[in-house]
Amino acid sequence: MAPVYSLFLMFLISLFNPIGLLSCLTSRPFFSTIPASNGDENVNIGARHQKELFMNRIRVGMIGAGMIADSHCAGINQHPHAKVVAIADLSAERRKAVKDKYALEKDFEKWSDLVADPDIDAVSIALPNALHAPVAEAALKSGKHVMLDKPFALNRAEAARVLKAAEKAGKVFMLGMNQRFERESQTIRALVKRGDLGEIYHAKAYWVRRSGSPKFGTWFCRKDLAGGGCMMDIGVHVLDLCLHLMGNFKPVAVSGATYTKFGNRGIGEGGWGLSDRGKHVFDVDDFATALIKLENGATVQLDASWALHQNDGDQHNVKLFGTAGGASVWPVRLFRFGKKPGEYEIVEPQGVAMQYPHGNRFMNWIDVILRKDKPMCTPDEALTVQKILDAVYESSTSGKEVRIKG
Ligand SMILES: NC(=O)c1ccc[n+]([C@@H]2O[C@H](COP(=O)([O-])OP(=O)(O)OC[C@H]3O[C@@H](n4cnc5c(N)ncnc54)[C@H](O)[C@@H]3O)[C@@H](O)[C@H]2O)c1
Repeated sequence: MAPVYSLFLMFLISLFNPIGLLSCLTSRPFFSTIPASNGDENVNIGARHQKELFMNRIRVGMIGAGMIADSHCAGINQHPHAKVVAIADLSAERRKAVKDKYALEKDFEKWSDLVADPDIDAVSIALPNALHAPVAEAALKSGKHVMLDKPFALNRAEAARVLKAAEKAGKVFMLGMNQRFERESQTIRALVKRGDLGEIYHAKAYWVRRSGSPKFGTWFCRKDLAGGGCMMDIGVHVLDLCLHLMGNFKPVAVSGATYTKFGNRGIGEGGWGLSDRGKHVFDVDDFATALIKLENGATVQLDASWALHQNDGDQHNVKLFGTAGGASVWPVRLFRFGKKPGEYEIVEPQGVAMQYPHGNRFMNWIDVILRKDKPMCTPDEALTVQKILDAVYESSTSGKEVRIKG
């Protein structure tokens, strides 16, 4: 009798919302007719399923219940047409914590079981770096849309395979470069687009910590699991942001050098990550530097460190240098000559319109899935950043400048 009751219930629902019935029958959401949210998230579990039928929400599976998972879940649930419904992690304790906090329906020990679940439309991935590309590729092949946390992959070949899988599946793949969404970044991007800086011919992008290595003994510090150290972890953020602000993703050559000077001696820990400690292996960079040449002759000086002797604990910025003005992101400032000879102005820009006032990368991702927006971070841009990261390490090993082709 149960299937008869279900069909009757679906018929009743269809009287109010025929698209909802279509969605139930096909198990594919019919996004073009999504009604506006009433903003009420305080519904009980029983009512929630019904509400989701009416709301046509995208059902998201979170893969990885570590330190950053909380901000993924909160960010996704902020969208009126998306909801995190499941979590996968090897750790039962961390899985339970996320499941309880977000009242999730399901949890999985194996990410492959979540990816195979037909009841899930999209996945958000926050795992050790070595799992990024394999899990993203498997999820796309299983018909899920994917949000992947940085860095994209261990190398450009892996990244290219993910993009191929996305294209073949016709699903949205987005790399979650959250710093592009910060208010300060959006302000500078708007000013650059308006032409306030003129031709940008040089930039400095740096994130240098004095003593900020992730917990020793975790995957972050192992080349086989992380791919690299501070350059892959935080250098990637400022590199991506810098090229985005310049509006220039055309690198032609990279000279890089990476160093391991503290972590291998058990110095410079800062504590990031929830993963458990294992044997203390530290075979990744805790300082890395690179000079990147772009096709139009512009250059980018990139520095990253987890540990470095310096005055401040943490310095993090992108600075742009143009023919009409310069800019810094933190704090947001414009630098330019004044109207009279000898005058110089340091301007705090006011009232610049934000493209994404919510500042939330997941809102953009869901809107792209719903075909209401374009991705802030395109697949091609994500691949270009990966090519530069590869080149930094290759150049460090060879001692030579690496040309970037294709
Ligand atoms: N965008 C950002 O600002 C930002 C900030 C922090 C971290 N991240 C990225 O997010 C990812 C996760 O970082 P984190 O700080 O949450 O790490 P974490 O160490 O706190 O968590 C990693 C989680 O992955 C789980 N895990 C490991 N192997 C697994 C497997 N085979 N199957 C299922 N689960 C597995 C671990 O149990 C752990 O809970 C990293 O790639 C990191 O670079 C991005």
